[in-house]
Amino acid sequence: MVTTIVTIRGDESDEAKITQAGEMLKEGKLVAFPTETVYGLGANALDAEAASKIYSAKGRPSDNPLIVHIADWDALGLIVSEIPTKARMLAEKFWPGPLTMIFPKSERVPYEITGGLDTVAVRMPGNETALRLIRAGGGYIAAPSANTSGRPSTTTAQHVKDDLDGKIDMIVDGGEVPIGLESTIVDLSGENPVILRPGYITQEMLEEVIGKVQMDEALIKEDSNIVPKAPGMKYRHYAPKADLLVVEGKQEDVVAKINELVREKADHGLTAGVICTEETEPYYEAEIVRVIGSREDEASIARNLFAILREFDDLDADGIYSESFESPGLGQAIMNRLLKAAGHQVLKVGRGGISKYSRLLFVSSGNTSVGPMAEGIARKKLEGRAVEILSRGLVVLFPEPVNQKAEAVMIRNGIRLDGHMSRRLAREDMGDGCLVLTIDKKQKEEIKKVYPEQSSVFTLEEYARSQPLSSPYGGELADYGRCFEQLEQMIDKVIRRMEWEGRL
Ligand code: TXA
Ligand code: MG
Repeated sequence: MVTTIVTIRGDESDEAKITQAGEMLKEGKLVAFPTETVYGLGANALDAEAASKIYSAKGRPSDNPLIVHIADWDALGLIVSEIPTKARMLAEKFWPGPLTMIFPKSERVPYEITGGLDTVAVRMPGNETALRLIRAGGGYIAAPSANTSGRPSTTTAQHVKDDLDGKIDMIVDGGEVPIGLESTIVDLSGENPVILRPGYITQEMLEEVIGKVQMDEALIKEDSNIVPKAPGMKYRHYAPKADLLVVEGKQEDVVAKINELVREKADHGLTAGVICTEETEPYYEAEIVRVIGSREDEASIARNLFAILREFDDLDADGIYSESFESPGLGQAIMNRLLKAAGHQVLKVGRGGISKYSRLLFVSSGNTSVGPMAEGIARKKLEGRAVEILSRGLVVLFPEPVNQKAEAVMIRNGIRLDGHMSRRLAREDMGDGCLVLTIDKKQKEEIKKVYPEQSSVFTLEEYARSQPLSSPYGGELADYGRCFEQLEQMIDKVIRRMEWEGRL
């Protein structure tokens, strides 16, 4: 079979091409076309014979159902037997767009399309060429992603050609797609809405419209006994030819580990490639380094993922190491694809308990009494150890020396706080290797609020797992004395815990 390629140029010549492609679909032929997510391989959804050609062209298992694409809201009624209210609300908000919904099917939909299920997946794509083609092709186009089954989905017409040339009738080339990951699939046919496949429309965005939405359990847990609700999600997918390993952890640990792994491979005469971001690229020493996008722009990572996985098949890499791309919005969708491509091979490096604290920081309110006392005690107990000890205050208007009673108690116990002047906490005082211990809860809450990125923040009482500290503030010298003793015990416990957890 000869595969005709037509290019959409955004001018009048498009009309004839779309009409031609539409005619082909009506005749039961296969036409690949762009959507906003990935390229789809289209066939007339109401023609069982046409649709079944999709399975042979892709080499797709026949129990894996297809998504029916429509271009107009009114088209939905013919193929579904019921439209739940929540589906209507989601359609109003997100259609045309990267959202697929599962409905109970009507008799018009052949079982060949649904893999024998009584439900049908429907989507109205947010791409002008796709919408025009669907209308020209009769209004109901079944379209899985236009790739050979098991390979990464296609985001350019060239990718489609690479996989399906000679196996399909036409490719409509509409350039590179904007999103790059397949649509979010939501099942509304049961009691509670469930996400069967994460995508560009996130759980949060859905919940804003219809309230609680669950994630299919099989997507969250790595337990292979749980079968995903979308039949297609159970297959090994997107896999590049070379072995892919995802390395997870703090950025610098990941870079160091990947460089080490690449060197190891090289020692054995093997070439390993790296998938990284703009931010980390300069730190890699490997021969083949591919930048997937920027961490500042998660959409760029989504858009390039499949193209990069495909590119690796043309490079002669024996193995691929990839960074991990968790992020607030698209992270779930990206990681779902990447982990599948890696066959869930993940290496976790530098996870909690392994990296050591380089700084212990006590934060009090004014940094003139309990804070500096804690600092002085810890400094003495940790002398000669590789950890820096500091204290800071949250309410410091100008530098002040230590409270006289506090200083007297410290001197009596052989610890000098000479030259201590109160200082206000600044972001630079903290960071990844810093353990922040606050004198009371208020300061912990304040730090959590102002510096949400700071991970290790505890109250002293909490970290030491001890009784609350009684404040000597405004009290007698004896009260400061008791506070000193209590602090000593708490700091002993703090040190024991740091050692136990391997962080000192
Ligand atoms: O973005 C997309 O959704 C792209 C473009 C072309 O629209 N299409 C796409 O289709 O990704 P495909 O066939 O690669 O993925 C369809 C997924 C499969 O995981 C399939 O199992 C699931 O949808 N699915 C289809 N019908 C279903 C049904 N009735 N119940 C549950 N899952 C269904
Ligand atoms: Mg697919």
